[in-house]
Amino acid sequence: MQIKLLQEKKVDSNENLIIIAKRDSKFSDFFNEKETKYILQKIEREEYSMLLNQYDRLVFIEVVDVEEEIYKLNEKLRKAAVSSGKVLNKNKKATVFLQAVDISASFLLPYAEGLLLSNYQFNKYFKEKEKKNNTLKKLKLVSEELDINQLNTLSVLAEAIYFARNLINEPVIYLTAEQLVKEIKEKQKEAGYKLTVFDKKKIEALKMGGLLAVNKGSIDPPSFSILEWQPENAKNDKPVVLVGKGIVFDTGGLSLKPTADSMDYMKSDMSGAAAVAGLMYAIAKAKLPVKVIGLIPSTDNRPDGNAYTPGDVIKMYDGTTVEVLNTDAEGRMILADALSYAKQYNPDLVVDIATLTGAAAYSIGKYGIVAMGNADPSYFEKLKNSGNKTYERIAEFPFWEEYKELLKSDIADLKNIGGRVGGAITAGKFLEHFTDYPYIHLDIAGAAFVKTEDSYRGKGGTGAGIRLLFDFIKNLY
Ligand code: BES
Ligand code: ZN
Ligand code: ZN
Repeated sequence: MQIKLLQEKKVDSNENLIIIAKRDSKFSDFFNEKETKYILQKIEREEYSMLLNQYDRLVFIEVVDVEEEIYKLNEKLRKAAVSSGKVLNKNKKATVFLQAVDISASFLLPYAEGLLLSNYQFNKYFKEKEKKNNTLKKLKLVSEELDINQLNTLSVLAEAIYFARNLINEPVIYLTAEQLVKEIKEKQKEAGYKLTVFDKKKIEALKMGGLLAVNKGSIDPPSFSILEWQPENAKNDKPVVLVGKGIVFDTGGLSLKPTADSMDYMKSDMSGAAAVAGLMYAIAKAKLPVKVIGLIPSTDNRPDGNAYTPGDVIKMYDGTTVEVLNTDAEGRMILADALSYAKQYNPDLVVDIATLTGAAAYSIGKYGIVAMGNADPSYFEKLKNSGNKTYERIAEFPFWEEYKELLKSDIADLKNIGGRVGGAITAGKFLEHFTDYPYIHLDIAGAAFVKTEDSYRGKGGTGAGIRLLFDFIKNLY
């Protein structure tokens, strides 16, 4: 359930309240003697999250250490919001006020963000879903310092992340490559960017061999979506292009994945596409003065009588030939065509986002995003900065040219797998072959989907990359 963010002049003393304060805040201004004593005792014991039951009103107090590094403190606040959200929902509350005491109102924003993002649920398929739905609907921020634009941005980003999570959590029995297009179209109407969709016929006419090869084993047609946001007040001439991997299910194809723990959640293999669709929604809704184009190639990857096969040589959209040695390395096949297609925009920068390799997931887990590329180091600096701010942290991998040697084929220009060494990097190097512009590759295989609840990222699809890239693009020019 999306929470509505509102700005209020003062707290309604009958309503639930969350207070963010520091150790030496004047609690006696807000609480009676007994309560103040309780709070100070708690602080003494270094317990910084408190809950007071004032009859049918709940009052939460979060005490922060303002000396702490700001990005870490912000993350603590996002996380702290999750437990109060749970208590509020458990008690069937609909409204809560949020106020800062003796500290900057800017601390309200990460807390609000945590509350909004943790209120997400995917209840669509429960018979009695209404009973399960969270009750919390309104968050009222008490501050005149806060800029209404900041609140709007927060709401828009939460909406974008809800949208992306829904897409990721949808199983392939519903979310085919064609349905993905319909869902994007639905959201596009509200956001107002331009949408162009290529169907199978058009994809064949364009000879997007990588996308068509992966689609050969599918009974459903592929799709290729182009999402354009080119406002008149754009600060950049050349656009930023975002490319998202849209494999709506990855069985591995003929190089079939073993089911247990490896194929089970591969409905999430379109998380990159979900991130791009979510980002384009947020960028257009927030009317960012930046030209951004999103490209989403999509299909499922399945074994079948006609499925592409190890040993096949595929002619890609740009004419490069690829020897397929593992049909499970399908993401790079569809992304390569989209990256070649991006050349015509003469982009300033291209960022692809993909659940590309198990190697990336094993390297850093769910704790961050693997990044690599040939774009100027200043871009990476900005990306890492956004990574810390949003706590979608960046782990930069090397991108040395020697890794490309591992992709040499005996009979074609490239093969689609490297070897045991540097699996995430050889995948990135494969993709780089199809670029002629500054390029960043993001592998979100670890962060895109969590099987157990992970704080405000929830359970299931996380929407990884959206807050990161929104902040990055917003501050790029
Ligand atoms: N979609 C997978 C990568 C993946 C693994 C995402 C785990 C999320 C969690 C990708 O298409 C894949 O199967 N990659 C192979 C590549 C290999 C065959 C070179 C992999 O990483 O094993
Ligand atoms: Zn695969
Ligand atoms: Zn995949």
